[in-house]
Amino acid sequence: MLQFGGFSFAVLLFTVTAATVERVQHDYYKYHPMEEISTWMTQMAKDHPDLVTIVDYGRTYEKRTIKLLKIGLNTEAKKKAVWVECGIHAREWISPAFCQYFVKQILQTYKTDAKMEKMVRNMDFYVTPVLNVDGYVYTWNDSTTRLWRKNRTPGPSSGCYGTDLNRNFDSNWGTVGVSFDCKKEIYCGTHVMSELETQAVTYFVGTRKDDFLCFLTIHSFSQMILLPFGHPNYTASNYNELMKVGLGAAEAIWKVHGQNYTVGTSPDVLYPFSGSSQDWAHMQGIHFSYTFELRDKGTFGFQLPEDQIQPACEEAYSGALHIITYAHDQTFSGAVVTAAATLWTLLLAAGVTLM
Ligand SMILES: *[C@@H]1O[C@H](CO)[C@@H](O)[C@H](O)[C@H]1NC(C)=O
Ligand SMILES: *[C@@H]1O[C@H](CO)[C@@H](O)[C@H](O)[C@H]1NC(C)=O
Ligand SMILES: *[C@@H]1O[C@H](CO)[C@@H](O)[C@H](O)[C@H]1NC(C)=O
Ligand SMILES: [Zn+2]
Repeated sequence: MLQFGGFSFAVLLFTVTAATVERVQHDYYKYHPMEEISTWMTQMAKDHPDLVTIVDYGRTYEKRTIKLLKIGLNTEAKKKAVWVECGIHAREWISPAFCQYFVKQILQTYKTDAKMEKMVRNMDFYVTPVLNVDGYVYTWNDSTTRLWRKNRTPGPSSGCYGTDLNRNFDSNWGTVGVSFDCKKEIYCGTHVMSELETQAVTYFVGTRKDDFLCFLTIHSFSQMILLPFGHPNYTASNYNELMKVGLGAAEAIWKVHGQNYTVGTSPDVLYPFSGSSQDWAHMQGIHFSYTFELRDKGTFGFQLPEDQIQPACEEAYSGALHIITYAHDQTFSGAVVTAAATLWTLLLAAGVTLM
């Protein structure tokens, strides 16, 4: 009996080891080509069926699917939402790395962290790891294409490719900080929303815009938190609050690894430009719309070494969480009201007289 027990224990151990070996651990601190990111997305949905679903919401010029992970607990109540968009510019590899880290953190913390549990109960997180899929795939082709920025749509004249997706949205399109020359990095497209990726975001977010509290679009580099508007002649109605919350996020970032992030509108701290997803989202009434420009400040630029992925993601996560938590608490302050009502009921039940 004893020997038989020992034998089955060995078999069990072997089975567990085989299962572990079969499944390759996703390394969050390396850059991944598109197929690996897709495989990882599938795995996330498989591992967390109660929380994660994959949503296909568009197709690129080269016929690749644009996908996001929807993360949230199923509740009966009507939920709010948060948009996190990575990889709109192909060469900014730290951006998709951030989205993967962001998803990992939520899934790792919600079971033990009461605040995160509440947030996945009240809100759905819509996370697009790579919006510009064709461009991203192209940057992985060989060293000569590593610094490609735009998508891969053929331009109106021969030999020119790609539109800058962050100049193509319906937010004062084509008015400032753009080029109409299809060979340029900031080519804004033949017309507003000419690109399939822009259309996908516009349709997906636009049809549920009242649900979204936050719209975060992640770029690199220069260590900045930008707020609407990129157009110099418009000021956001909630500019003061956006600045206050943005500065709070920068402080949260600084606390993690001592990195300095600058906060402001793009015309104030970078350069003016029109047609960004951030401006478009704010114009839809999504109040907390921000652009993150992650590490570094130019030493490595778009080619941030892999040993900086972890610190860059850790600090940016802290900044993003500051904004998301603020937006969440503003909307779901009802929780406080409920707690007070419960206390009142208890006091009444105990026969306490309040004066
Ligand atoms: C991809 O890289 C290969 C090998 O360097 C090259 O021959 C090919 O032209 C590249 N493809 C594109 C679309 O640039
Ligand atoms: C901003 O407004 C000024 C004054 O009306 C105008 O001259 C300028 O062209 C505008 N800028 C842009 C980028 O539209
Ligand atoms: C942070 O960056 C801003 C803007 O570049 C600069 O004015 C400020 O002095 C920097 N602070 C530190 C501590 O480096
Ligand atoms: Zn960018």
